[in-house]
Amino acid sequence: MLIDGNAIAKQVLAEVKAGVAALAPVVPHVAFVRVGDDPASVSYVAKKQKVAEEAGMKSSLRLFPENVSREELFAHLDALNADPSVHGILVQAPLPKHLGETEVFNRILPDKDVDGFTTQNIGRLAQEAPGAFAACTPAGIVELLRRSGLVVAGKHAVILGRSLIVGKPAALLLLAKGLDATVTVCHSRTRNLAEITRRADILIAAIGKPRFVTADMVAEGAVVIDVGINRIPDATRKSGSRLVGDVDFEAVAPKASLITPVPGGVGPMTVAMLMKNTLAAAQRLANA
Ligand code: GUN
Repeated sequence: MLIDGNAIAKQVLAEVKAGVAALAPVVPHVAFVRVGDDPASVSYVAKKQKVAEEAGMKSSLRLFPENVSREELFAHLDALNADPSVHGILVQAPLPKHLGETEVFNRILPDKDVDGFTTQNIGRLAQEAPGAFAACTPAGIVELLRRSGLVVAGKHAVILGRSLIVGKPAALLLLAKGLDATVTVCHSRTRNLAEITRRADILIAAIGKPRFVTADMVAEGAVVIDVGINRIPDATRKSGSRLVGDVDFEAVAPKASLITPVPGGVGPMTVAMLMKNTLAAAQRLANA
């Protein structure tokens, strides 16, 4: 059975749109910052802006060249932090090395950190404190599981990847009271990987390696969530390439009880959860 990320994202966005309308005359505003011209980042930010506008929100975008100084970028983030008409701030990753991704994320006010990447929000998530912004991709995964009617409590969730953007916050979310999964996090130094992934009731692949998860790594009946978005050459396509996930979909799908496709699985949920976080930020600031 396929988990339809597009359909579930549509439900979430309809709810967000209603929330945005109810907040009038305040219009939630998400400010995007992009550094350089990484083609994937260009397309992700454009998609996020389009969906924000469809949900009735305002979005803005500031572009910086690849060689922007940290001072200049920080000055812009400080201005966005101080602007009461801006509710959410998102700096698209990856960033050039000289900027220091963690320092950049931490420059964002925690209450405007709709990506959930600041020390404060990761800490709040670990504390299970109310009002933490959870990173959009893991939050989207949880929403997919919930809205697919899956009971997570007591299940063994195996996460492939330990990134700040997906792996680590996914582990915290699934572990939290209410979801109550038993969580294992695997990474590039994990030994006997297939032995561990075969014990997963829920397998989350977030390693950025095209079709890395093969059928022998998955138990019969497992739920498989594919976070990967990898472009690979494909001579049969007009564009010369196509998108594949971190899971070898054709081989794994027959074994899985539920599986997300790429595209159309986790991707649209990441965008939907960003809008949900931005609405929450605006609601919080409007009620402060
Ligand atoms: N790059 C890949 N995913 C994300 C995300 O969710 N947020 C940001 N800011 N950058 C990303």
